[in-house]
Amino acid sequence: MKIAVFSTKPYDRDYFEKHPQASEYQLHYFETNLTDDTASLSKGFDAVCVFVNDKVHESVIKVLANNGVKLIALRCAGYNNVDVNSAKAHGLKVVRVPAYSPHAVAEHTMALILTLNRKTHKAYNRIREGNFSLNNLMGFDVFGKTIGVVGTGQIGAAFCKIVKGFGCNIIAFDLYPSEELIALGVTYGSVEDVFKTSDIISLHCPLTEDTKHIVNSSSIELMKNHVMIINTSRGALINTSDIIKGLSSKKVGFLGIDVYEQEENLFFKDLSESIIQDDDILRLMSFPNVLITSHQAYFTKEAMEEITRITYENLRAYNAGEFLKNEVK
Ligand code: NAI
Repeated sequence: MKIAVFSTKPYDRDYFEKHPQASEYQLHYFETNLTDDTASLSKGFDAVCVFVNDKVHESVIKVLANNGVKLIALRCAGYNNVDVNSAKAHGLKVVRVPAYSPHAVAEHTMALILTLNRKTHKAYNRIREGNFSLNNLMGFDVFGKTIGVVGTGQIGAAFCKIVKGFGCNIIAFDLYPSEELIALGVTYGSVEDVFKTSDIISLHCPLTEDTKHIVNSSSIELMKNHVMIINTSRGALINTSDIIKGLSSKKVGFLGIDVYEQEENLFFKDLSESIIQDDDILRLMSFPNVLITSHQAYFTKEAMEEITRITYENLRAYNAGEFLKNEVK
């Protein structure tokens, strides 16, 4: 089975190549994203293996189908970048890695909160320059604060359990409240309740038509003054220009993001010698109370091992004509 792996970084290749099943497949690695411009590279392959910023829209799927591709194997959990209906209409199956390490993302979420709050990134730089002053480094106790969680699936639940250990109150919104979390002391309310009552709001729902721009000028208006907003889910959950307004007016006190609406032109790339053309990210980078990481929340050794293992398992099951338990329908 021949597989075209798009958006390949050296670490992806390392993990795929050192896996015991590597010799059973012919993997060809492309550094480029899968887009309209690059879809023609899929000619002669049975499957494409894609990641979060590959654009698997209808026009791309038509080219994949014409080229004989039968399977789209996502090596991530979110599938908002794939037109699943169009894939189905063209006879392509879509599989994903539904959960590889919810802990990796939940732990990174807490890292963003603690770094923003206690400013350890600034302290690190200060001390290296011989500046031992504490001015402007004051934080707040996380203990006793109300944390709002939107989406309590695998990652949201892992995050709630971490936050519980900090002695926080948790208010959550999900279409399907979790009995396990209720037993743990999590209170469910409406999304408005979460926005109105939380000191820190963390987004863990998928990007869908319903959740796109869930954080916008109107919802920010509902929030407490100086709220902290954390997004480790998908960039488009936040309306970028509205959050910039919220930060400028000081209504939003802190923003921590691992994902960004226009991230595909920036994230995962070394642009240190380039002129960045995205004025919104430049504005966000200029705020002292904004912390940005480049979609690295998933990036642990354990998560990479699981992504590789489950992707090979998805390929094996497809090749063997077995039931695809990780199929996206
Ligand atoms: P999951 O499917 O286990 O949980 C998602 C939860 O969101 C479910 O409980 C679902 O009922 C809920 N939900 C769906 N629509 C909703 C709505 N309109 N309002 C409120 N809740 C809603 O997914 P998991 O594994 O927890 O991942 C969550 C998201 O995290 C993924 O969709 C992905 O976008 C993102 N992610 C980010 C990573 C990163 O590296 N930054 C890595 C992995 C996932």
